Amino acid sequence: MTAVPSTPSNPGALTVPPFAVISGAQVQRALQGHEKQVMEVVEATYRLHGAGDSVNPPSYFLRFPDRPNDRIIALPASIGGQARVDGLKWISSFPENVAAGIPRASAVLILNDHDTGYPFACLESSIISATRTAASAALAADWLSRGRERPTRVGFFGVGLIARYIHTFLAGSGWSFDEVGVFDLSADSAAGFRGYLEQSGTAGRITVHDNAEDLIRSSDLVVFATVASQPHVENVSWLEHNPLVLHVSLRDVAPEIVLASTNIVDDVEHCLKANTSPHLAEQLTGNRDFVHGTLDDVMAGRVTVPEGRPVVFSPFGLGVLDLAVGKYVYDEVTRSGELHVIDNFFHELRRYG
Ligand SMILES: NC(=O)c1ccc[n+]([C@@H]2O[C@H](COP(=O)([O-])OP(=O)(O)OC[C@H]3O[C@@H](n4cnc5c(N)ncnc54)[C@H](O)[C@@H]3O)[C@@H](O)[C@H]2O)c1
Repeated sequence: MTAVPSTPSNPGALTVPPFAVISGAQVQRALQGHEKQVMEVVEATYRLHGAGDSVNPPSYFLRFPDRPNDRIIALPASIGGQARVDGLKWISSFPENVAAGIPRASAVLILNDHDTGYPFACLESSIISATRTAASAALAADWLSRGRERPTRVGFFGVGLIARYIHTFLAGSGWSFDEVGVFDLSADSAAGFRGYLEQSGTAGRITVHDNAEDLIRSSDLVVFATVASQPHVENVSWLEHNPLVLHVSLRDVAPEIVLASTNIVDDVEHCLKANTSPHLAEQLTGNRDFVHGTLDDVMAGRVTVPEGRPVVFSPFGLGVLDLAVGKYVYDEVTRSGELHVIDNFFHELRRYG
């Protein structure tokens, strides 16, 4: 970044930063194998957000009356700290893409310069989004299992791209499992994920379950990554062994299960929106007493997670995480000397020509 820092005594020193485009291949090179570093970035960003050094307005959901399954979400955000960057993630979800052999989600991330407001980078962001989601899930798995027996049997419920990234982050941050369970409504997805697990060489005994109950009952760590729009797991007794649940897809479990669990979220205001399961629980009870706190509360020791109940982590997904991971990628690509700057992207720069 070449913008000169702005100071009140030196306002004329501001310059327009160069504008760069970072491809998915570059993003992947910057992130692959860096699971621990990315988890540190995500942890620091949760702490920053918890301390109020961020702006993270509600996500805006663009929906289409004629295409009810599709949506595009805008996540604007700003973070302070070392990254000191503003920006926007613009991410589409078109579930029917999967049947055509292309990913459901596609995204770009725009980074804006803190001092001038100028956009200075556009990054391919489906990888950044999946990465920050998986890093957050692995971070939660670590912190929320500290006061209880560490899970050795993981179950993946819904096994698309996000499940793959979460498994990669769990393995990359030191988890190993004796048993890995898989359940998906699509036999193709289950087979594809099984193939990925076998290839990864990090999975224990793999079982593809043909029903949801068996998967949940045989897992101490359950990862939901479906595209369900309303709860489909309703029986509280399926969780009587008190698993740790990473409820990444947010709308899988019935409010009754939420109410029977310890609930940890990333941000209370964000998560209790858009008919997530915690939002449904709020609508059912008329209060938020069932929310025990945020992951930042747990990391800071303000909230402890009791044994003897299921723990459900519901991360709404914060734009600040995309920004922080995006800035990490930008810095890595810059350091590698491979930043692709678009010359004269901003062209009309003299006020009167
Ligand atoms: N909370 C966050 O921050 C965050 C971030 C990114 C993605 N997500 C969510 O993660 C989810 C998964 O994303 P993806 O890119 O992996 O999607 P994907 O389409 O690649 O995979 C989803 C899989 O879930 C399966 N599935 C759908 N409904 C199911 C059900 N009821 N039971 C079992 N399996 C079912 C599908 O067959 C498919 O294989 C999406 O809901 C997405 O919105 C959350």
